[in-house]
Amino acid sequence: MNQPLALLNQLTPSEFLDQYWQKKPLLIKAAIPNFEGLLSPEELAGLACEEDVQSRIVEYKKGVWHAQHGPFTEDDFAALPDKPSAEHNWTLLVQSVNHFLPEATTLLQQFSFIPHARLDDLMVSYAPHGGGVGPHFDSYDVFLLQGQGKRLWRISEQSDLSLVEGAPLRILKNFDTKQEWLLEAGDMLYLPPHLAHWGIAVSDGDQDCMTYSIGFRAPKNQELASEFFGFMQDKINQEAIPLAGLYQDANLSLQSHPAEISADMVAAVSAQLQSIQWSSSTVAEFLGRYLSEPKSHVVFDANKKISQTAFLKQASSRGLCLDLKSLMLFEGQRFYLNGEMTDSASEAVATLKKLADCRQLDAADLEGSLNHDNLSDRLYAWYLAGYLHFLD
Ligand code: SIN
Ligand code: CO
Repeated sequence: MNQPLALLNQLTPSEFLDQYWQKKPLLIKAAIPNFEGLLSPEELAGLACEEDVQSRIVEYKKGVWHAQHGPFTEDDFAALPDKPSAEHNWTLLVQSVNHFLPEATTLLQQFSFIPHARLDDLMVSYAPHGGGVGPHFDSYDVFLLQGQGKRLWRISEQSDLSLVEGAPLRILKNFDTKQEWLLEAGDMLYLPPHLAHWGIAVSDGDQDCMTYSIGFRAPKNQELASEFFGFMQDKINQEAIPLAGLYQDANLSLQSHPAEISADMVAAVSAQLQSIQWSSSTVAEFLGRYLSEPKSHVVFDANKKISQTAFLKQASSRGLCLDLKSLMLFEGQRFYLNGEMTDSASEAVATLKKLADCRQLDAADLEGSLNHDNLSDRLYAWYLAGYLHFLD
């Protein structure tokens, strides 16, 4: 778990976390030696034509940035310049490639030294020579892993983060290159949030540039608070938080202005609201549900209905794996899968933790444990919902 890794410039995960994570950029030559990428430009373009895939084409034309959202057609690609130049170039970006490509799971697992709760997705970009999305900053921590071709990365630890007004994407008004590196296949750059950067595609022979962005979400505190109070509202509506009784004013005194909301009324309601408490267990439940909730466009295809006995027979001989789109987290004995919570009986906990950590359970991991009703009922329900499948 804590060995020096080529992936981290021979740092151990703990050293990387101490010295670089959320602090400063790190260039890692040959982070994944001989990395050839996970898919071809044609396969990436194919994904960008699918209805349920989120993609963008960013075009830079004579000083102006344009952004189009997918799904695209062959005609959209045919309309792009075949001879890109500094004045006219483009890039294709495809989000959540890990939802469609099983090989991406193995790549993402190399980054398990960062909690799954922080993982956002694997984005893959393709750009002919000169393409890119311009100078910008992200609110995310990101590992930029170079696939085929090369990319010239410019970075700047500048505090001026003002943006070009009216542009369809976030472009920094002023970008002041402080350092630049040419990344080749298998090289990687870690960037903390809000660090200004600009990646420019460099073709290598006939290989155009493909970059794999392993992104880690950093929710805004405002978003966390707003979501938490939405969660609390549901708890109050379900009467899971004790708030009995009616507003009372047995000591009401005559007001000179009947339209006035009196200080007494404000004080009584304030005291009532301030009595609402939440424990760390409530916050943990909120985090589990919220952070395992799939993005709104994600849908799961239910598996073909089979009996529970047939399910258990197949699961025990083949093993199980999470669907590529599934998000599974846990805290204590509570497990969260795709926004739903389940409390687990203690004999199932170790097996479910392994499923959450490794995203799969081999036949050997399931040996003996499928006798527990709590576990087998749970896994069967998840199978029917399409949240997990048999291993091949
Ligand atoms: C890219 O892959 O073109 C852009 C990645 C980034 O700058 O965040
Ligand atoms: Co970026």
